[in-house]
Amino acid sequence: MSALPPDDPRLDQAAATDESLISAHDKAAAGKPDKHAHYHLLPLALLFVFSGLIFYAGTYLNRYSGHFHGDIFDERQLPGDGAPAVVATIDPVALGKRQYNLACVTCHMPNGQGLPNVYPPLADSEWVNGDEERLIRVVLHGLKGPITVRGNTYSVAAMPAFGQVAGGGYNWSDDKIAAVLTYIRQEWGNQAGPIETTKVTELRLKTGDRKEWTESELQALLP
Ligand code: HEC
Repeated sequence: MSALPPDDPRLDQAAATDESLISAHDKAAAGKPDKHAHYHLLPLALLFVFSGLIFYAGTYLNRYSGHFHGDIFDERQLPGDGAPAVVATIDPVALGKRQYNLACVTCHMPNGQGLPNVYPPLADSEWVNGDEERLIRVVLHGLKGPITVRGNTYSVAAMPAFGQVAGGGYNWSDDKIAAVLTYIRQEWGNQAGPIETTKVTELRLKTGDRKEWTESELQALLP
């Protein structure tokens, strides 16, 4: 590198200390506010508007998306302008059969015979054809512990809760539960009467949130 001439200003600058530089800059900038030297925050109002929108969108999705679950499909929803002119009627047995094949069939089997020593049968079961309230409770809240069906005892597995109750993983509406029960009460040679949705609602509200029943708890509630 060639030597700099003695009057070159860079020689002075090279010798400058931090303090001398800062004070030189202060002098040069005196009286001239530097508008662009600072970050500007997003106007607070806009921040609130955006946060509000994101919160609203999240809540809306959470409330109405049905968690994007394939099972959640409202059979009574009609396309159109929203006018509640016609309410489609669904055959509870058809709906019940669909629900059965969706959720119960894996354990209780297509022929309603269950699996020996593991899953009890629904065909010809005194639980299915017997007391309505006891049956509704089993499906609303679930069941665990030993239970006797058609003379055999089952105790290795538990029956899950299907109702809209705390801990009920399936969250079925009362009319789906009424439908599936109506279906199993007239399938495989069973000949018991239908289960009304209002009865399911009544028991769900009456019992509140609870864990699975045991056989003895249910027997104690029999009229
Ligand atoms: C994960 C397997 C499983 C599924 C799914 C299941 N159950 Fe059960 N269910 C059981 C078991 C196990 C019992 C016996 C529980 C016990 O031992 O206390 C039972 C008991 C029952 C009983 C009383 C006993 C009997 O055999 O009559 C009924 C009624 C019943 N289930 C109906 C249903 C219906 C309706 C569905 C679908 C909505 C269903 N279950 C889904 C496993 C299942």
